[in-house]
Amino acid sequence: MKRVLIALALCAPLFAATADEAAPAAAKDAFTMGDAGAGAAKAATCFACHGPGGNGAINPAWPKLAGQHSSYIVEQLVEFKSAQRKVAVMMGQAATLSDDDMHNVAAYFAAQKPVPGVASKDAVAVAEKLYRAGDAARGLPACSACHGPTGAGNAAADFPRLGGQNAAYAAAELNDYKTGERGSQGKGQIMAAIAAKLSDPEVQALSSYLSGLQ
Ligand code: HEC
Ligand code: HEC
Repeated sequence: MKRVLIALALCAPLFAATADEAAPAAAKDAFTMGDAGAGAAKAATCFACHGPGGNGAINPAWPKLAGQHSSYIVEQLVEFKSAQRKVAVMMGQAATLSDDDMHNVAAYFAAQKPVPGVASKDAVAVAEKLYRAGDAARGLPACSACHGPTGAGNAAADFPRLGGQNAAYAAAELNDYKTGERGSQGKGQIMAAIAAKLSDPEVQALSSYLSGLQ
């Protein structure tokens, strides 16, 4: 009995500490520990190009960020800052962000609700099967294996959300993976290998399909 009491007494401060830490942690982003509230102020500059709340109404060739996974957003910002992903306009933006800023804006955008677009019917006819089943004959995996059946991606595995993304942006990225403009190093190599197997009409169809996926 005495042993049990001692054990309980020893555990009590532990329980107390866990409860204390759990309260503020609940407000933080689970993957980056960023603070969406602090990120909202920083994100205002991003709205100029990524649209209010990151829903991208400004230019269809620029990506929506709303609902994108925080871990993926941080990873891309780091790639822009280090010039691994070379896009002048975003390299300039990322250069102004500290690590904390990156975690906070990422937490903010991850918490926004993405507004999907509408896919063309012709695109769905070509793309749906590829997206869901791939094409074994060409060694093409199903996109849904990584990006999920609704295009929500996978935050833990760092696979980006594609559902609702602007079609023109998605097509531009798939073409960049194809030409090696993007994805020559790191995780992008996964997509470079996949995009290399897609024809131009498939890229167009998949991109339109993704814009309506939810
Ligand atoms: C002047 C316009 C502009 C501003 C301002 C801007 N961006 Fe971007 N951003 C872009 C463009 C264009 C791209 C697409 C780059 C490409 O073609 O790969 C992009 C891409 C991104 C991506 C990669 C998205 C993906 O799906 O891979 C992230 C993340 C991002 N921006 C975050 C931000 C954040 C955070 C801010 C604010 C601090 C910001 N951007 C401000 C134009 C802008
Ligand atoms: C094995 C996992 C996997 C499969 C299968 C896969 N992807 Fe990806 N995809 C990724 C990863 C990882 C990234 C991020 C790569 C990077 O960091 O550049 C990505 C990125 C993308 C992007 C860029 C997203 C953005 O916001 O910039 C598009 C578009 C895309 N994938 C489309 C597809 C399509 C279409 C298919 C099916 C033909 C597909 N993916 C299959 C893992 C996968």
